[in-house]
Amino acid sequence: MRSITDTFTLNNGLAIPCVGYGTFQTPVPETKKAVRAAIAAGYRHIDTAAFYGNEAGVGQAVRECGLPREELFVTSKVWNADRGYEKTLAAFDRSLSELGLDYVDLYLVHWPANYLQFGREAARLNAETWRALEEVCRAGRAKSIGLSNFLPHHIDALMQTAQIKPAVDQIEFHPGWNQRGVVRYCQDEGIVVEAWSPLGRREVLADETLTAVAAKYGKSTAQLCLRWVLQHGVLPLPKSVTPARIAANTQLFDFEIDAEDMRTLDKLDLIGGQCARPDDVEF
Ligand code: A2P
Repeated sequence: MRSITDTFTLNNGLAIPCVGYGTFQTPVPETKKAVRAAIAAGYRHIDTAAFYGNEAGVGQAVRECGLPREELFVTSKVWNADRGYEKTLAAFDRSLSELGLDYVDLYLVHWPANYLQFGREAARLNAETWRALEEVCRAGRAKSIGLSNFLPHHIDALMQTAQIKPAVDQIEFHPGWNQRGVVRYCQDEGIVVEAWSPLGRREVLADETLTAVAAKYGKSTAQLCLRWVLQHGVLPLPKSVTPARIAANTQLFDFEIDAEDMRTLDKLDLIGGQCARPDDVEF
């Protein structure tokens, strides 16, 4: 990878730009401007979700930025309240309408239904949600479909009835929460892993170890985190509404973290972010 527009290849043959611009918690009034700034800084991959409430601003930026639609990669996700076949189809229609687009490049199931909340019904519910994603994918309204926050056992269960294999799994991934087992499983299965909160929600950025390693390469801790994600073969989705940081977060290709420093960063544990466990969440 030499720039943020270089691509990973999904298991359906389609290309996905190797760094995406994240929009979780980007305030609605600022979204259009922030996404325009990101596109101007070179991002071609924008990640949103129905739950973020800002799909309309993302869509406006995409439609008004002057680039052909096919040069941009747009992801959205079905929220937890809309699981199940019919509700997911309806949610997908709402997302496309909010975005004002004919298709999304990638549509994800935001979180798996878990045993804690749904008991034995969880697997069936996930299968029904997935059946709706397969339908919008077959219709060409979502070019690719995938998962978010799914652990290997959720994916194994889904594969019992899935006809289309998930193209990606978007999980929390940053130094201090490296989810080794999930990443290994997905990569073995040909599922591209995307990293949400690749900066560990800022707490990671002040970590002493990270600060020392970043200084060695003459980079910021944020750039070190994003490079670490890429060197794991994972696709980072940094978010920032600050133009200087939006730009700084693209400067990841003029250094390489050596093996020893990768091991040092891999060993950091339970710092930053949410360290969310999909089997334990109650939303
Ligand atoms: P801001 O939007 O004010 O720039 P994460 O994606 O890990 O959850 O972290 C996102 C947070 O990290 C945002 O609050 C964002 O703040 C901040 N951030 C993004 N890029 C940088 C950077 N290069 N340096 C410092 N903070 C950053």
